Amino acid sequence: MTSGTGLDLEQHQKEALERIGEAPDEAALELLRVQFLGRKSAVSRELSRVGGLPEEERRQAGQQANSVKRAIRAALENRAQALGMVQAGSLAVAEAIDLTFPGTLPRRGHLHPVMLVMRDMEEIFRGLGYDVARGPEVELDYYAFEALNIPVGHPARDGFDTFFVAPPGSDEEADPTAEGRVLLRPHTSPMQVRYMERYRPPIKVVIPGKTYRRDSDATHVPVFHQLEGLMVDEGVTVADLRGTLEYFARAMFGDDRRIRLRPDHFPFTEPSLEVHVSCFQCDGRGCALCRHSGWIEILGSGMVHPNVLRFGGIDPEQFTGFAFGMGIDRIAMLKYGVDDLRTMLENDIRFIRQF
Ligand code: PHE
Repeated sequence: MTSGTGLDLEQHQKEALERIGEAPDEAALELLRVQFLGRKSAVSRELSRVGGLPEEERRQAGQQANSVKRAIRAALENRAQALGMVQAGSLAVAEAIDLTFPGTLPRRGHLHPVMLVMRDMEEIFRGLGYDVARGPEVELDYYAFEALNIPVGHPARDGFDTFFVAPPGSDEEADPTAEGRVLLRPHTSPMQVRYMERYRPPIKVVIPGKTYRRDSDATHVPVFHQLEGLMVDEGVTVADLRGTLEYFARAMFGDDRRIRLRPDHFPFTEPSLEVHVSCFQCDGRGCALCRHSGWIEILGSGMVHPNVLRFGGIDPEQFTGFAFGMGIDRIAMLKYGVDDLRTMLENDIRFIRQF
């Protein structure tokens, strides 16, 4: 602004109003307010200049400057209001809730096939009057081996690839030959003796749970699940074992299933028997699932060894029993036709939901 003439102010007002009308938001508007009405603005300078003018010019120049000031202030107010409304309008759109719109259901979990099969197994044995018990995963050597007729130095220990736990307070590696070692149970059989210690015959119990072994490759992982079974009473024979496991196989794999027993060896059973079920895919004719044998091995079993009964405080002269143990993960894979162990472990909800 080079002079106080009306022409300059008019031009100035025009420019101010234009720019205010285009201000995109409140921040831009505030900058324009400072520029056009602030202390260093042309209008302010014009007003302070007016005071030094001669009497006759002062009046007109003052009125003109004040009218420009009012016009700019009004424009700022209008624009501020308009922007406020725009903002309120877009908020109304953005925050709108349509109460009639169908909702999205929250994603729910699903039981893992291993848990489903574990529950099926528990149900089947409950139906036969069995108790369902749990036991410690961190176990004493005594229950995992000694009391199961596998003394220190017995070669059968090698088959169990055991994880040993270092004693509390020691920073040394656990000594696998020390007395009273603590370990992660490599099978659920330790619960046979724990259960016999606590309950008198007749005993009918199944024990599902996690088990640990150090082997891990394409078909083995260090953590898996077993279901242990134990029946002890007067006069229990292999016929009871057979009848019970045949009933189980049919309940699990279908009414048409048959089982067969084959000799096996476990230190804690005598005799020991491998149980096979007729292939539920080909009904025994032979297919890829049963490797063309018509039979699938599902568990290990046998008559409880007299030494094990004794460790459990039960007189083998008076009582006999049978025991069995099976891999739940393996049976889940067989039952649901899962051929890759890894898919069982990934916990992909899309996989798990299929069961
Ligand atoms: N504990 C045995 C295993 O893990 C299975 C078994 C249990 C065999 C009970 C016989 C009796 O291989």
